[in-house]
Amino acid sequence: MDDEISSIVKESYRQRALRILEASKDSCCSDGCCSAEIRDSVTCCTESSTDYCCDSSAPVTSQNDCCDSLPLTGSQISFGCVTDFMGYVNPKKGEVVVDLGSGPGKDAIDAANLVETKGMVIGVDFTEEMIKLATENALEQNLENITFVHGDIGNLPLDDGIADVVMSNCVVNLVKDKAQVFKEAYRILKNGGRIIVADMITLASEDELNRLDPEDFCACIGGAVSKDSYIELLENAGFKDVTAIEQSQSNYTKANFTVPYISVIFSGNKL
Ligand SMILES: C[S@@+](CC[C@H](N)C(=O)[O-])C[C@H]1O[C@@H](n2cnc3c(N)ncnc32)[C@H](O)[C@@H]1O
Repeated sequence: MDDEISSIVKESYRQRALRILEASKDSCCSDGCCSAEIRDSVTCCTESSTDYCCDSSAPVTSQNDCCDSLPLTGSQISFGCVTDFMGYVNPKKGEVVVDLGSGPGKDAIDAANLVETKGMVIGVDFTEEMIKLATENALEQNLENITFVHGDIGNLPLDDGIADVVMSNCVVNLVKDKAQVFKEAYRILKNGGRIIVADMITLASEDELNRLDPEDFCACIGGAVSKDSYIELLENAGFKDVTAIEQSQSNYTKANFTVPYISVIFSGNKL
């Protein structure tokens, strides 16, 4: 089951990365992305448009699922659940930051600009196409203090005690063995380092969650746990002073039932 979920998650993010990589070559308003019908119906697909695939008011069908309302603007693309994540992470000049599940690289790139040339950012992602996309996005900004590494966040290809900060935006919910992810995060942090994780937290009962299938993992809901469980996982990994900042509540609606969730920003210290 774990492997099945992991493969589904990887394939889902592979497809997202490929769509963005394709769209950045060619405006997605061109043939091959949205159907002619969709292209004609959305305001962004004008002859001069290169920015967006399709806006959120566009109808989406399985034949043109590239039109899933993602803004396609290079390093601005984020799949995170918290905007202004850097306001919480607050990377300082000279720090080494590791981003778990870096995706298209937006948070890592923002952090690289903040730690400046004396600092360093390492993004880790298990989807090769995401690594390619993030690397291209960083190159566009001529950043030399950032690197993206292919790997699983449950088995980080990084040495012990290298990071001042471990951050992650909407990724740990996608992993079944969350304890292992936090164990690895703790291992690579220096003493005195900190973790800041934004994630989806479910407010649903076990019964409701049991109705979700592995594909709901890709929507960041199927693998979400409660706030208390999340805090316990961080504390069990060794983190001290764990805090949680809740954002506003939303609903994930599937067929005829609804799962309430919130985004939460957790932080903790390695003393
Ligand atoms: C919801 S996206 C978030 C990406 C990024 N943090 C952001 O805010 O845009 C989840 C990312 O985590 C990656 N991911 C999921 N499970 C992973 C794992 N076990 N190891 C490494 N990366 C993983 C996916 O490939 C995807 O790029």
